[in-house]
Amino acid sequence: MNRRDLFRTLGLGGIGLLIPWQLSAADFLPGQASSGALRLGSNENPYGPSPAALEAMARYMRDGNRYPFELVQELVKALASRNGLTPNQVILGAGSNELLLNAASWCLETKLPVVAANPVFPVLGMYIERFGGQVTHIPLNAQKAHDLPAMLRAADKTPGMVYIVNPSNPTGTLVDHQALLDFIKEASQKSYVLVDEAYIEFVDPAYSRSVASEVSNNPKLIVLRTFSKVFGLAGMRIGYALAHADTLRKIGSYQIFPGISTNAAGIGAALASLNDKAFVSHTIEQNTVAKQHVYDSLDQLNIRYIPSHTNFMMFDLKKYSGDFKADMAKENILLQQFEDEEGRWARLSIGKLEEMGTFTEALERIWKK
Ligand SMILES: Cc1ncc(COP(=O)(O)O)c(C=O)c1O
Repeated sequence: MNRRDLFRTLGLGGIGLLIPWQLSAADFLPGQASSGALRLGSNENPYGPSPAALEAMARYMRDGNRYPFELVQELVKALASRNGLTPNQVILGAGSNELLLNAASWCLETKLPVVAANPVFPVLGMYIERFGGQVTHIPLNAQKAHDLPAMLRAADKTPGMVYIVNPSNPTGTLVDHQALLDFIKEASQKSYVLVDEAYIEFVDPAYSRSVASEVSNNPKLIVLRTFSKVFGLAGMRIGYALAHADTLRKIGSYQIFPGISTNAAGIGAALASLNDKAFVSHTIEQNTVAKQHVYDSLDQLNIRYIPSHTNFMMFDLKKYSGDFKADMAKENILLQQFEDEEGRWARLSIGKLEEMGTFTEALERIWKK
């Protein structure tokens, strides 16, 4: 039985398109990660956790014998007040991935078809297709950004839920803030709109910004955020959704312990990180410098890339004849590779400047071979 047949048998037939980069989490299995490989494949924050978060984690670990009811309330309140919302408009998850699965379960049970870009962060679409739900994949536009008019047309035909990732993964591209507001207004006449803002803190507000403030005016808008990226807490698994209380009740009903799937040390770290403006600024500044170093090297090698608004970026592998990801792995550098209708691309997470130096030296070596 070949792989395609196997997936069909398992009901996974529809995910083939997305596979090149979505299943490569296997790259980060403990054996490989502990071998000292340079991890440039998961868009983690190389500077975190912040000293304040580390100190809070040690402190809150002492609460590890208790369910974190009060701590959940404390973080929920802090997030609500930060976003001008009420606590019943916030729910926590074990990373935003858990909330994506909860949203997917809701779509599956209530038969809401989903419209999503392609390629895009695949968890929601993959889970829905795996269990027989409907996902319409809309190709990115020429700028490798979400094609909002095409997504609106698709959502008009099959109303349900539209998934927008802004800035997007794996491309690092944005949708214009006003265009997104107009889209939400229009699409939410018929559909829920789920805006995944995992990387929004990296974005210069002159280009685009969060739509969280719209949640109180629009009962069909859901905004998803995470502490895994700019706050440097990927290992603590804390994400959250902002939406109308009724919507969150539905999404939360698919959690094993609704609202309480996080942990005390992680919540403590998240609370400390929220107020650690210096750490967030440091991360963003260093990311910009390290990213520029990669841009310069790619320019020198004449490799096409897509300018990114995030802590990762993609570049074109058309001129590379070998298996780039495998060749980089031989250099002990882990990154992602994926395909769209134009061809193959690498997706590179931006590490510290010295790590990017290691990457660009390896790139020069293998690219010229
Ligand atoms: C766009 C996007 N959404 C959600 C997630 C999930 O992040 P987490 O579960 O760590 O919050 C990621 C992780 O890479 C992502 O890129």
